[in-house]
Amino acid sequence: MDGVRERTGLRKVESRASITEADDLDLSRLLERPRLKLERKRSFDERSLSDHAAAGSLQPVDSYESMLSLGAMRSVLDTPTSSAHNSFEPHPMVAEAWDALRRSIVLFRGHPVGTIAAYDHASEEVLNYDQVFVRDFVPSALAFLMNGEPDIVKNFLLKTLQLQGWEKKIDRFKLGEGVMPASFKVSHDPIRKTDNLTADFGESAIGRVAPVDSGFWWIILLRAYTKSTGDSALAESPECQRGMRLILALCLSEGFDTFPTLLCADGCSMIDRRMGIYGYPIEIQALFFMALRCALSMLKQDAEGKEFIARIVKRLHALSYHIRSYFWIDFQQLNDIYRYKTEEYSHTAVNKFNVIPDSIPDWIFDFMPARGGYFIGNVSPARMDFRWFALGNCVAILSSLATPEQSVAIMDLLEERWDQLVGEMPLKIAYPALESHEWQIVTGCDPKNTRWSYHNGGTWPVLLWLFTAACIKTGRPQIARRAIDLAENRLSKDGWPEYYDGKLGRYIGKQARKFQTWSIAGYLVAKMMLEDPSHLGMISLEEDKAMKPPIKRSASWTI
Ligand code: GLC
Repeated sequence: MDGVRERTGLRKVESRASITEADDLDLSRLLERPRLKLERKRSFDERSLSDHAAAGSLQPVDSYESMLSLGAMRSVLDTPTSSAHNSFEPHPMVAEAWDALRRSIVLFRGHPVGTIAAYDHASEEVLNYDQVFVRDFVPSALAFLMNGEPDIVKNFLLKTLQLQGWEKKIDRFKLGEGVMPASFKVSHDPIRKTDNLTADFGESAIGRVAPVDSGFWWIILLRAYTKSTGDSALAESPECQRGMRLILALCLSEGFDTFPTLLCADGCSMIDRRMGIYGYPIEIQALFFMALRCALSMLKQDAEGKEFIARIVKRLHALSYHIRSYFWIDFQQLNDIYRYKTEEYSHTAVNKFNVIPDSIPDWIFDFMPARGGYFIGNVSPARMDFRWFALGNCVAILSSLATPEQSVAIMDLLEERWDQLVGEMPLKIAYPALESHEWQIVTGCDPKNTRWSYHNGGTWPVLLWLFTAACIKTGRPQIARRAIDLAENRLSKDGWPEYYDGKLGRYIGKQARKFQTWSIAGYLVAKMMLEDPSHLGMISLEEDKAMKPPIKRSASWTI
């Protein structure tokens, strides 16, 4: 076994919940990591919104019947034995991936603080790929946590927290206090013999957009760290509590908003170039929802904490209702929108955002299967962006923003439209691609985002971890297995590219980096989760039954 450990780069191999044992586990037990000596303090997974309501932060809310799907239960039972088999016969790529991941570690004054975006020696253009990106570090962090190496994650969380405290300016304009950097760079000063840090909050980024997702990922990672190590002291420290409050203050502030979703500029997330995701992109809304739920589980009930808890609880109710109702599309809903009346006024309006049916793109009528559904890319006045975005939908499943029925439907869609959404390499970041005139107008003629490339319908192996987690949560690990097999056919041979191009994701991306760290870490996380589904608890939140499900359209959406 030690030989295996060495070869695979695994430092510790701890007792796993074997697949056969799992037969008598239920999902909630599965989601708790068996090996953790977690203090049995109630986490948010157990602390529901109604608890907060009972604590005085909100009026009591109605609860509704548990809709925990059979699918979720199947997650344990269906896990293929082949994945258990893999723990004895590790795929040679696993060892290679660990080596590559370790090579990407960045030290600051002797301590590991993150991983660089890409370790591509062949590439002449370094750009900012030699930096530690907050979003890119998430899969690396999960891999380290799953392997029992939490120190680098703790250092990263603390280092980024310090950076949050820096004054951030773009030209003469000062950014909000809570903004977390998109990335930071460690450079060595050979004269003073010390390491220095520089951070980018959007002031150097292409397009000069601040990363809205960084703060959310930071909170999500803090919870993952706490869940995995059982060390709640970090999250409870005054610094972390303050850091969370600063992030929350940015996105919970009241203004002109009429929607509970968060208004964003284009390019503020993983898709960090103009791609027509301005407005209320699902990618950000799902992360926002998840971060709010994670923060709720970690905020202390002190005077300042209480105020935020109350605001979060209210926002979660409104946000879940809004997204579950208005972002959701399936065959029935598409047909309803297709028949919408327009120019309705007042509270009785069915077509609340005045979406003109003629604006529905042709492709979606063929794409929509009879079974399945998903959260569309964006909803704002007279605008529904019907594109599919993988990250937003997977995060919606993991955070339980999607109801159990919606989660099942998203997985159905993925299975029904496998060729389009997965193809020959997992996973398409967005579908379909913008082409021709639309590409010119929406992307501003971006030569990197040509059709079926990069963010515009390109394929990003990093998404494999999110997809695998969603598959396990919805009881379909065999689908994840299929996707991992595809990745194993090519990833290592191709040098771990950042992205692939083409309708089927068959070609290495035009300008893709090689040895892209999150492609490597994403693969490792997917493998480890499939082997030991209890890891899922780190990045998954169970359904909160106190959150009201959307009112059934059939009852409320007919005039
Ligand atoms: C690109 C991606 C972005 C990623 C960065 C570093 O800019 O669009 O999502 O964080 O590269 O890998």
